[in-house]
Amino acid sequence: MAAVSGWGKLGRSTNIAPRGPSAYSIPNFLRGDCAVSDGEVFPVFETWAQKAHLDAAGYEAAAARAKTDPDGFWREVAGRLDWITPPTQIKDVSFNKSDFRIRWFADGVLNVSVNCLDRHIAARGDQTAIIWESDDPEIHTTLTYRELLAEVCRMANVLKAKGVRKGDRVTIYLPMIPAAAVAMLACARIGAVHSVVFGGFSPDALAGRIQDCDSKVVITADEGLRGGKTVPLKRNVDEALKTCPGVTDVVVVRRTRGEVPMTEGRDAFYSELKTTVADTCEPEPMNAEDPLFILYTSGSTGKPKGVLHTTGGYLTWAAYTHELVFDYRPGEIFWCTADIGWVTGHSYVVYGPLANAATSLMFEGVPNYPTNSRFWDVIDKHQVEIFYTAPTAIRALMREGDEPVTRTSRKSLRLLGSVGEPINPEAWLWYYRVVGEARCPIVDTWWQTETGGVLMSPLPGATHMKPGSCTKPLPGVQPQLVDAEGKVLDGAVSGNLVITDSWPGQMRTVYGDHERFIATYFTTYPGKYFTGDGARRDEDGDYWITGRVDDVINVSGHRIGTAEVESALVANPNVAEAAVVGYPHPVKGQGIYCYVTLNADVTPTDILEAELKGWVRREIGPFAAPDVVQFAPGLPKTRSGKIMRRILRKIAEDDLSNLGDTSTLADPSVVDDLVKNRTQQS
Ligand code: PRX
Repeated sequence: MAAVSGWGKLGRSTNIAPRGPSAYSIPNFLRGDCAVSDGEVFPVFETWAQKAHLDAAGYEAAAARAKTDPDGFWREVAGRLDWITPPTQIKDVSFNKSDFRIRWFADGVLNVSVNCLDRHIAARGDQTAIIWESDDPEIHTTLTYRELLAEVCRMANVLKAKGVRKGDRVTIYLPMIPAAAVAMLACARIGAVHSVVFGGFSPDALAGRIQDCDSKVVITADEGLRGGKTVPLKRNVDEALKTCPGVTDVVVVRRTRGEVPMTEGRDAFYSELKTTVADTCEPEPMNAEDPLFILYTSGSTGKPKGVLHTTGGYLTWAAYTHELVFDYRPGEIFWCTADIGWVTGHSYVVYGPLANAATSLMFEGVPNYPTNSRFWDVIDKHQVEIFYTAPTAIRALMREGDEPVTRTSRKSLRLLGSVGEPINPEAWLWYYRVVGEARCPIVDTWWQTETGGVLMSPLPGATHMKPGSCTKPLPGVQPQLVDAEGKVLDGAVSGNLVITDSWPGQMRTVYGDHERFIATYFTTYPGKYFTGDGARRDEDGDYWITGRVDDVINVSGHRIGTAEVESALVANPNVAEAAVVGYPHPVKGQGIYCYVTLNADVTPTDILEAELKGWVRREIGPFAAPDVVQFAPGLPKTRSGKIMRRILRKIAEDDLSNLGDTSTLADPSVVDDLVKNRTQQS
C-alpha cells in the first residue's frame, strides 16, 4: 500500500517541541577534532575592506539604521527593484496571534520577470545571463539576457494558451537545464505561482505536492541526466498523475530525446508548442504581496509544508542578499551548485543573480563525474569568480585528496560560499586553503526555505571569519537565543534560535493552511519566529548553528522529516512500527537511522533490510534512503506510549554511556536489546 495520498500517514502534532539546549548533540566531527579551536579568527582581507559594498563601519551603520529607521532603511533596500508603482507602505508586521500579519511593500506593484530580464536589456541584452554546463563535460550552452527574455515569453505564452492565469499554480519537475529557469520566470511573468519539485522526488511525493496546491499544468522533461545516468522524469509524472485527476496538461521539454509515452490530449512537447506562439508577452502587474512561488519543505510532521513566498519582499531579499553576501557586481560569473528544486536554487541560481544582472552558471551534473576535478574544471572552463556549494560536497571531495583540486588553476575565483548544513572546521579549512588558496574569503551562509534568503553570514568586506561559524546577522535581521521555556539568554550561551522581527524575504504562509503556519513557527515562543535550529553565541557575539532541535534531519544538505521516513516505513506491509533518528555521518553530515519493529509473523533478514531501504527510496526519493535499518522487537516508550527518541538518538550516535534516565520506560529491558543489537553504521 502506498502512503496516504502521497504524503504518508500524518504522525505527530504540528507543534514543535524543542529540546532544551542541554540536549544538543553536536557530532564530534563537527566539534572540531582538528587543529582549530573555536577562537581561531580569520580577519577581513584589507583589499576586501576597501572595495566591498560594505566594510565593518558600513555594516554597523546599516544594522543600526535598520533598527532606528526601519521604514527608511527597507524603502531604500526595495529601491533596488523596478516598481510599476513604488510602495508607500513599507512594513506592516505583527507576530502576535491576535493581530498576526506579515506584509511588506503592500501597495507596491511590480513584475519579477521584468526585474530579472527586461530591465537589463538596454545595457546588457547581449551579456550572458545563463551558462549551462551539461552533465557531459563536452557540452555547454549560453543564453544572453535577450535570448532568455524571448524564451521566457514563449514559455509564458504556451502556459497562457493552456489556460494558465494569474494566481494559478504550475508544478515544475525538471532537471537542471535552462528550461527550469525559463519555466519559473514564465510563471512569474504571467502571475502564475510555481511549485518546483526536486527531480529526485518519487512519483508518490510528486503527486502529493501536485494535489496539495492543485496544479492543472505540470512542466517536465523526457528524462534527466546526472552523473551519466538517466532519471525517468516523464515516467514519474505519468505515475504521479494516476492520482492527480486535476492535471489537464503536461508540457514536456526534450532533454535526452529518450522514448517516453505521451498521453493524447494531455501531453505535448515544448519544442512543438513554442513554434506556435510569439516571443513577446506583456508582463502581469503584480501586487507586492501576490504569491510568487510555493516550495515544499519537510517539518516535524509527516506532511511537507508548502512554504509560500510573495513577489516584492522575496525578490527584494534575494537580490539584496545576493549582492551583499557575495559582494556581487553586475556581469561577474556566479556559480551556485544547488538544484533549482531547493530554495538555494530559487534564490541564488535564478532570482537573486538575475535580478542583479549576473551571469549565473547552471550545472546539470554532480561533483564527481566524470572525475573528482569536475567542479574545479568547470570553474576554469567558465572563469567562475564566485562559487557557492554545500559542506557535504566539500567533505566528499576532501576525501579524494588535494590532487584533483591542485591540478586545476582556479585563478578566476575570488569568493567561496557554503550553505545548507553546519560546516565542520576541518572541511572549512580545506575549502579555504586548498580550493581558495587562502586568498578567497568564505561566506558560511545560514538560512532556510522559510527565510527566502540568507539571514546570517560573514560579509567579505566587513566580518572576520571563523571556521564553522555563520558569524553575524545581516542588517535588519534580529536573532535571539532562548531556552526551552522561552527565557531570553544573553551573552555567550547556547539556546534555541528565534528571530524577533520580520525581514522582507520571510515566508508568508503555509499554502492552504495558515493556522499551521502560525502553529509551527510562532506559538512555541509567542511573538517570535522559531527557526527550529539550535545555536551557540560566543564571546564575540558570533553565532554557531548546532543543528535542528526538532525532528528534522539534514542529510547532505537535504532536509528530511523523520516522520516522513517513518510514514514510508509503516506503509510497508511487513512493518508494525518505526522510529527514525539522525546520527553523525562523516560525509552527509547526518545519516538516517531507522528502528523498525516487524509484524509478529515476519522474520528479520538481510534481504528484508535491503528491501526496506529500497522501499523508502521509492516512496520518497533516492536522497531519503536509510543508511541504517535496525530491527527492534520493541521501541523504548513511556507508560503513556510516547517513544523516547532521546534514547534512540543516543544509541544511533553510539553515545551509550549517556542514555539518561530509563526508569520511566514502560519496559526498560527494550533498551538493553537495542544496545546489544546496535547495527554497525556504514
Ligand atoms: O538547520 C539549518 C540548516 O538547514 C536548515 C534549512 O534547510 P532548508 O530549508 O532545506 O534550506 C537549506 C538552504 C538554505 C536550517 O534550519 N542550515 C542551512 N544553512 C546552514 C545550516 N546549518 C548550519 N550552517 C549553515 N550555513
